[in-house]
Amino acid sequence: MIKRPKIVIIGAGGNVGAAVSQWVAVKELGDLVLIDIKAGPAEGRALDLTQSAAWEGFNNTSFVAGDKPEMMAGADVVVMTAGVPRKPGQTREELINVNVGIVKGICADVKKYAPDAVLVVVSNPLDAMVFVAKQVTGFPRERVIGSAGVLDGARFRTYLAMAAGVSVEDVQAIVLGAHTDKDMVPIISNAMIGNVPLTKFLSPQKITEVVENTKKGGATLTGLIGTSAWLAPGSGTALMVESIVRNQGRVLPCSVELQGEFGVKGAFVGVPVKLTAKGAEAVYEFELSAAEKEAFTKSVAANVELMNIARGFLG
Ligand SMILES: NC(=O)c1ccc[n+]([C@@H]2O[C@H](COP(=O)([O-])OP(=O)(O)OC[C@H]3O[C@@H](n4cnc5c(N)ncnc54)[C@H](O)[C@@H]3O)[C@@H](O)[C@H]2O)c1
Repeated sequence: MIKRPKIVIIGAGGNVGAAVSQWVAVKELGDLVLIDIKAGPAEGRALDLTQSAAWEGFNNTSFVAGDKPEMMAGADVVVMTAGVPRKPGQTREELINVNVGIVKGICADVKKYAPDAVLVVVSNPLDAMVFVAKQVTGFPRERVIGSAGVLDGARFRTYLAMAAGVSVEDVQAIVLGAHTDKDMVPIISNAMIGNVPLTKFLSPQKITEVVENTKKGGATLTGLIGTSAWLAPGSGTALMVESIVRNQGRVLPCSVELQGEFGVKGAFVGVPVKLTAKGAEAVYEFELSAAEKEAFTKSVAANVELMNIARGFLG
């Protein structure tokens, strides 16, 4: 019998988990299992989503929801969205002590019940949580992947499109490095709009403004909503899941352990990655400008510092 992919969302009672579930369901990527430490919200989200199928027309997706870790058994992809989100005025880094405990416990269950899964981590502070997931599961780097560059890149492209007055579909631009306001690195040197260099559309001052808006993109939304955003994070994460379960080979910015790429070994940081059924099948390097290189190096150092804090909590 041909099996549909089993996609497990952990923390699915929350906002990001619910958004990932919605995009995954609408795209009909596989059989969804929604898990949360609180069974009620997981079951409620599943029921709510199931009822939206009546008008949206997606089908043949079976919904299972609850609080039992064994429900992840045999998963092809596990998406980790469990953890506290930031409040207005808080940085992602400040979530580390609470979220290490949550992510560590769940990853032990992933290792036990879904040892062959590709694990996509969304919980913050993102790069440190990918490190924790890799340490606890012992999975190869291909199967422990952080979702953040897809969001930061989407924000960067959106702000560029708004500033240039063009369609976001034609904006090609990437954000590398840490998923923090301070240290993410929006890449200008190879950004294009419809294959035309960015400098044809925007002045250096406008570009600087866009970069700053991108870096504080999450904080802006947290200030407006009162908690962190979920629609764009959910859409970017579902795109990663789609590339994995459909073996598409999309090249997207993801956080993985660098093994010598960009001159870095052992740090977890956002870089361009080819996503296939194997997970992060390849990491691509490219030439950065001198300023971007310097910012990337600083970004790696900040992530290493966070990883060391996380290591302290791992014991
Ligand atoms: N990487 C990104 O791009 C990105 C974007 C947005 C948010 N986030 C992060 O994602 C996480 C979730 O954000 P949210 O807005 O959905 O928060 P939320 O509070 O709405 O949801 C979190 C959910 O996790 C659940 N949970 C807590 N501990 C658990 C455990 N041990 N097992 C299972 N479930 C558990 C909670 O019950 C809750 O339902 C946060 O850490 C947030 O910072 C990351």
